[in-house]
Amino acid sequence: MKVLVLNGPNLGRLDIRDSSIYGDMNYAELVSHIESAAKTHGFIADVRQSNDEAEIISWLYEAADAKIPVIINPAAFTHYSYAIRDAAELVKAPLIEVHLSNPMAREEFRHTSVISGVANGTIGGFGPNSYVLALIALKALLS
Ligand code: DQA
Repeated sequence: MKVLVLNGPNLGRLDIRDSSIYGDMNYAELVSHIESAAKTHGFIADVRQSNDEAEIISWLYEAADAKIPVIINPAAFTHYSYAIRDAAELVKAPLIEVHLSNPMAREEFRHTSVISGVANGTIGGFGPNSYVLALIALKALLS
């Protein structure tokens, strides 16, 4: 089964972001990590990244129309994008929010997620393995 793995702004530049927060993998390595874990758990991962809110919204429409499950790291949009929240709500297949870091252990503005209320669940703080845990959770939700 296909899963859309959507990544928000600045995640494409993990190579130059703070590795003490986001770890040592660059974005290409993160994509490979997700793709191979997806295969292990019986999924085909379509992994995408955009800095553009409108593009992420159009990908959520695609998932809603095709009834494809979604794993989404909305990055900074997590904390304020009602538009992404409303589009995520349209996805009736499972939708899991993930974060590399643990936003609750960071600055106060990261403690709010406008996405969590429309997600089946949220996984954060495990680096690239947050995505792997989300795939395992997704498999359980679908079985
Ligand atoms: C993030 C956490 C967000 O607060 C931040 O804006 C990001 C990445 C994470 O994966 O830890 O860009 O979503």
